[in-house]
Amino acid sequence: MPGVFGHLPRSRLATLPTPLERGPQMPGDLRLWVKRDDLTGLGLGGNKARKLEFLCGAAVAEGAHSLITVGASQSNHCRMTAAAGAMLGLEVHLVLSGDRPETPSGNQLLSTLFGAQLHFTGAEESHWGELEIAREALAEELTAAGAGPYSIPIGGSTAVGAVGYAVAFAELMEQCHELGVRPAAIVHASSSGGTHAGLVAGRALWRSRGHEVPEVLAIGVAQGVNMGRPDVAELARDVVELAGADRAIVERADVRVDPDWMGEDYGVPTRSGDAAIRWAARHGGWVLDRTYSGKGFAGLVGNAERARWPEGSDVVFIHTGGQPALFAPGGAPGLARRGQ
Ligand SMILES: Cc1ncc(COP(=O)(O)O)c(C=O)c1O
Repeated sequence: MPGVFGHLPRSRLATLPTPLERGPQMPGDLRLWVKRDDLTGLGLGGNKARKLEFLCGAAVAEGAHSLITVGASQSNHCRMTAAAGAMLGLEVHLVLSGDRPETPSGNQLLSTLFGAQLHFTGAEESHWGELEIAREALAEELTAAGAGPYSIPIGGSTAVGAVGYAVAFAELMEQCHELGVRPAAIVHASSSGGTHAGLVAGRALWRSRGHEVPEVLAIGVAQGVNMGRPDVAELARDVVELAGADRAIVERADVRVDPDWMGEDYGVPTRSGDAAIRWAARHGGWVLDRTYSGKGFAGLVGNAERARWPEGSDVVFIHTGGQPALFAPGGAPGLARRGQ
């Protein structure tokens, strides 16, 4: 499968393949597997490393001298873009929500350590439209100043970025095949939609070769994806088009988003998310975060409890990372006693 994208420029930034680990017993006798994309390596790892391989590949191919991207104040995507820029010798500008803190922590600390310039907009955490306007203004400024920026939208969720997860789908299917596992579902947290679109595209490509394919279930952790923005089916079709694979069809029904686990808003912790973080830590030794992977795993547990999949099914959770945010103010869940 990586072959169908072999014509696209790619910067090698991630440690791949990531491990696929067997997890503890779940409700409904599900057999849990965890795809450790928190271990992609780049700048402490996470899902964005896979997208950045193709985004930075394009930037380098275009002769860019700098990268600009945007995110919430504790953006993992921004932190990993900062690390990618450091590896590739590109200047990095990050447009962030909120105000400059007295002392940077979590992802901001790491982004600063990787040498990125942080631009604070004062925007609310979930007001991504404001961030995108600020990104475009900065891109114009840097272009005029001759800095040759390659500008990356929120979450790196363009078709080029999403290719990373089409390739990841094939990587995961090959690992499952080696282990003799036929998963009923692949579950992950979704916020800007690119991880989801890439997986849906990878699934369509895999299916077009006559393989059986699992459900891909995105747990929506932001208002946009929960309301159908971006259009994940369209984005997945753009990814398939990049592969030039005419026989791979993306159906609307392939796109499944469960909005029940976001809670009040993007970035606002939930009781079920915090419980999922504690469960994963105490049963698997995994570290999930309150904005993304904790809510994503809460969605997996909740769907298992609702008997979405037949008893005894294998289900894969893609651990998309997010650990540095635990070390920022408000980033850690309460440490209730075992079992809670
Ligand atoms: C840890 C983590 N998990 C999941 C996601 C969601 O990925 P996407 O933006 O591709 O939907 C993000 C995005 O920032 C993330 O940082």
